[in-house]
Amino acid sequence: MGKLKRFGVSMEESLLKKFDDFIKNQKYKNRSEAIRDLIREKFVEQEWEKGENVSGCIVLVYEHDVREVVNKIIDIQHKFSSHIISTQHIHMDEENCMEIIAVKGKVDRIKKLYFSLKSIKGVKYSKITKATTGKKIE
Ligand code: NI
Ligand code: NI
Repeated sequence: MGKLKRFGVSMEESLLKKFDDFIKNQKYKNRSEAIRDLIREKFVEQEWEKGENVSGCIVLVYEHDVREVVNKIIDIQHKFSSHIISTQHIHMDEENCMEIIAVKGKVDRIKKLYFSLKSIKGVKYSKITKATTGKKIE
């Protein structure tokens, strides 16, 4: 880590109150630590978007009974098999399944894979975690 510098931040009292509640909730020791993390989070996302080769994790929730949804999810994963490291399947309850897909590769392909999966009819929730090493941020 480089040299630490201090700077002042002004904001509305009500916003600061919400921020302090958030900090307490997330177990941060102080405001500085929380602000650093939030800033880093933004830069990691930018780094991912600009990255050549990226890693990430796709989460899907779907009802396995909805017509063809399982087949479509499998078909797409096979098409992108060189970008998928592993897939974990969790049976959430009688109807719902969750799939956690670890991905790695060219950012454009990963995005295409994600958009193809999330647009399948029957997928109720989808999210991609854009992970980087943060090497260029430190
Ligand atoms: Ni397969
Ligand atoms: Ni299942």
